[in-house]
Amino acid sequence: MESLLMPFCRWLQATPWGRDIRTSLWAYPFIQLIHFSGLSLWLATNVAGDLRLLGYGNKLQTPAEVRDGLFRWNWAGFCIAVFGGFLLFSARATMYIRNPAFRVKLFMIIPVAVLWHIFVQAKSHRWGQTQETPAVAKLAGLIELLLWVAVVAAAVEIPSY
Ligand code: HEM
Repeated sequence: MESLLMPFCRWLQATPWGRDIRTSLWAYPFIQLIHFSGLSLWLATNVAGDLRLLGYGNKLQTPAEVRDGLFRWNWAGFCIAVFGGFLLFSARATMYIRNPAFRVKLFMIIPVAVLWHIFVQAKSHRWGQTQETPAVAKLAGLIELLLWVAVVAAAVEIPSY
């Protein structure tokens, strides 16, 4: 897969924005800030929804109401995180694509976690109508929490390689 993606990575890091982010003093840290802000919003809204499924948090609303209330903030955070992540990747695409932690994060755990998130979000309407959620909803919320912990764990390992 690495050899398949390498031509794209070479092109990406030679684009004007890829070059500028790599060579500028302030651009990379500024985009890190964008990536971290987006993923904080994404992770915080996911954790709030999952904890509510597990029976913790805001008891004034049902789990379905919590998910619905956070829906826009949740996906806005995701779009910001992906945008920032893509720009960070553009700066040194050929380096990141060889990084095992980056590859595990982007091509294995994130796709599984996002698909699981969409499944849990869709099911929350049925599971979350009452204050007490069924055991299957609790399990689904716990699995989602663990998947996002795994994404962050892989991400923090990126600089070690
Ligand atoms: C939405 C889920 C995502 C989460 C939770 C996430 C999480 C993180 C975290 C916690 C870091 C900090 C690692 C550290 O320096 O300790 C990071 C860095 C980074 N992320 Fe993401 N990320 C996500 C999506 C993406 C996507 C979609 C991309 C690429 C298209 C990406 C590319 C990067 C890059 C290139 C770094 C910089 C690594 C470095 O040089 O330190 N991320 N991410």
